[in-house]
Amino acid sequence: MKRQERRLPVALLLLFVLCVSPQKTTVSWCVVSDAEEQKCLNMAANATARNIRGTLLCVRGHNPRDCMVKIKNGTADAASMFADDIYAAGLCHGLDVAAGESYNGVDGISYYVVAMARRSTAELSLLEMHERSSCHPGIRTTVGWTVPIGYLVNTSQISVGEQCNFPRVVGDFFGYSCVPGVKDPEHDPRGNNPRNLCEACIGDDNDRHICANNPRERHYGEAGALRCVAENLGDVAFVKHTTVFENMDGKNQESWALDLELEDLKLLCPDGTEAFLHEHERCHLAAVPANAVVVRTEDKCRVWKYLERLQNVFGNATEGFNMFSSAGYGESNLLFSDSTRHLHRILGNYISWLGPTYTTMLQAFERGVLCTCG
Ligand SMILES: *[C@@H]1O[C@H](CO)[C@@H](O)[C@H](O)[C@H]1NC(C)=O
Ligand SMILES: *[C@@H]1O[C@H](CO)[C@@H](O)[C@H](O)[C@H]1NC(C)=O
Ligand SMILES: *[C@@H]1O[C@H](CO)[C@@H](O)[C@H](O)[C@H]1NC(C)=O
Ligand SMILES: *[C@@H]1O[C@H](CO)[C@@H](O)[C@H](O)[C@H]1NC(C)=O
Repeated sequence: MKRQERRLPVALLLLFVLCVSPQKTTVSWCVVSDAEEQKCLNMAANATARNIRGTLLCVRGHNPRDCMVKIKNGTADAASMFADDIYAAGLCHGLDVAAGESYNGVDGISYYVVAMARRSTAELSLLEMHERSSCHPGIRTTVGWTVPIGYLVNTSQISVGEQCNFPRVVGDFFGYSCVPGVKDPEHDPRGNNPRNLCEACIGDDNDRHICANNPRERHYGEAGALRCVAENLGDVAFVKHTTVFENMDGKNQESWALDLELEDLKLLCPDGTEAFLHEHERCHLAAVPANAVVVRTEDKCRVWKYLERLQNVFGNATEGFNMFSSAGYGESNLLFSDSTRHLHRILGNYISWLGPTYTTMLQAFERGVLCTCG
């Protein structure tokens, strides 16, 4: 009797370590667009044709939030998600991550969020941003919203009450800003988000589409936020560490970009000091992790093993199906980021994958995430 009681946990442990899944051999991938579904179906057919063990199914979700619910309730098993959604999947639904994307051979970190300013703007400190003007790539983006607002909460410069109204608090805090999309009905159902959050926006050549959540607004996106600071409309732009270099040396032919001089720009660090542009590794608001495959905790090992088999065959394929390419589907970053070199196994939990700085920012933002857990 005693012996049998002890055998069961050992068997379970072995199952876990060896990652043997006796019953389920299908992996249902949650896809959110026609193009993604088509690539998923191609991957499934190619996997079958190459006799890869297991079966891939493609399940249609409305958006990443819907996919989280489906993974939680077993309608789907997996989907690749970006950092903000990984946090929501863990916090709201108790999900975890099985595999992470690796770009350029650098595991884990995808990019740094930095605060960029003109060198000529004196007396500027990230710890004292009240009444300053700011340029954000867009509403509810990691770079332009979650991380900078999380930072302001973390440093007690703003606080958000029970009403969950981040735009109002941010509008009260900054003098004027450009947050493309902040007045869109989707993000402002009652139409009362502060107008000053669009006052550093410029729209298109004909003064139309001001504050639009698309490139017609010339201060939209990371390049647009940089332009907003370069044109002296904002004191600070929240961008990626790579943004400035992607718009230099003729890579961007617009006149503001051709006029850009590295010496005219600086980074603002979270401790209130400043730094040179290339010092992003020590002077950033957050290191944002790569996309990862979200799964139920008990499925981590099983889904990883399946992905490992897939990438052994389709990860570097130069002819036939390649799982990290979206060429021919009319959209980019389908199922995985197109810049993925390989996937690697994640043994720790989703918090360890997200990393300390980014998690700190999101925990400050947590009320905002919880507000939308629904
Ligand atoms: C699981 O969640 C999805 C997404 O909302 C829903 O459509 C489906 O009916 C749910 N299925 C079960 C078995 O609860
Ligand atoms: C967040 O706030 C804590 C406590 O004030 C501080 O120790 C920490 O350095 C802050 N983190 C960042 C990245 O600013
Ligand atoms: C594909 O090849 C590159 C270069 O050799 C390597 O870094 C990468 O890990 C490979 N990817 C896979 C999935 O094997
Ligand atoms: C494999 O994928 C390609 C697209 O890369 C598709 O054209 C082809 O039909 C798929 N092969 C099979 C056997 O389904």
